[in-house]
Amino acid sequence: TLPIRIAPSILAADFAKLGQEAKDVTEAGADWIHLDVMDGHFVPNISYGPDVIKALRPHTSAFFDCHLMITPADPYLEAFAKAGCDGITVHAESGPHLHRSLQTIRTLGKKVGVTLNPATPLSVIENVLDDIDLILIMSVNPGFGGQKFIPAMVEKIGTAKAMIGPRPIELEVDGGITPETIGAATAAGANVFVAGSAIFQGNSVESYRGRIDGLRDAATR
Ligand code: DX5
Ligand code: ZN
Repeated sequence: TLPIRIAPSILAADFAKLGQEAKDVTEAGADWIHLDVMDGHFVPNISYGPDVIKALRPHTSAFFDCHLMITPADPYLEAFAKAGCDGITVHAESGPHLHRSLQTIRTLGKKVGVTLNPATPLSVIENVLDDIDLILIMSVNPGFGGQKFIPAMVEKIGTAKAMIGPRPIELEVDGGITPETIGAATAAGANVFVAGSAIFQGNSVESYRGRIDGLRDAATR
């Protein structure tokens, strides 16, 4: 069984001092750092791209968990790999050739992730289960931090867990994760938890540590 991992999303950090934020949240106990890449096309918001990730890379040795909310994704996969992402997750909805995108990430030597919007059924990944290292269940509509967890996603996490069976696939959940919602997601089978607004408050290592510990305690209780 895979370990519980807390993955702060720096989308909620202070963009004027991202390097320090990445360093602080790592020191505070983050297992992974979640990088939300938005193109203003696949999702109605723009965040940052590979150059920002490359600039962040020297500031922490934490696993860079890159969530691409862009279409098309394929022309940019190599740039994100070279920028220092350790895992790259693409949306199943972002293009007609999901298998090709996953193979490209594999060839680049990175952990292979696939994610689904709340309304997308798990059946679209049924035939790629042996090609992936991670499934990301979106528990909000992608595009913005600070939204409410969609309760129906708990059952979807459970169905994903059953589909995974004995495969060593990470099951990640993203959106509206707080000490109040994380318990149901863990109980349903998720082991990686993205949190933005629930962690980046208080602007200090101590504050971040308290919030990360709070999530971890609520997940393992
Ligand atoms: C939403 C992003 C999330 C977001 C989570 O499009 O994929 O990673 O930053 O933010 P919170 O934890 O505030 O819901
Ligand atoms: Zn995300």
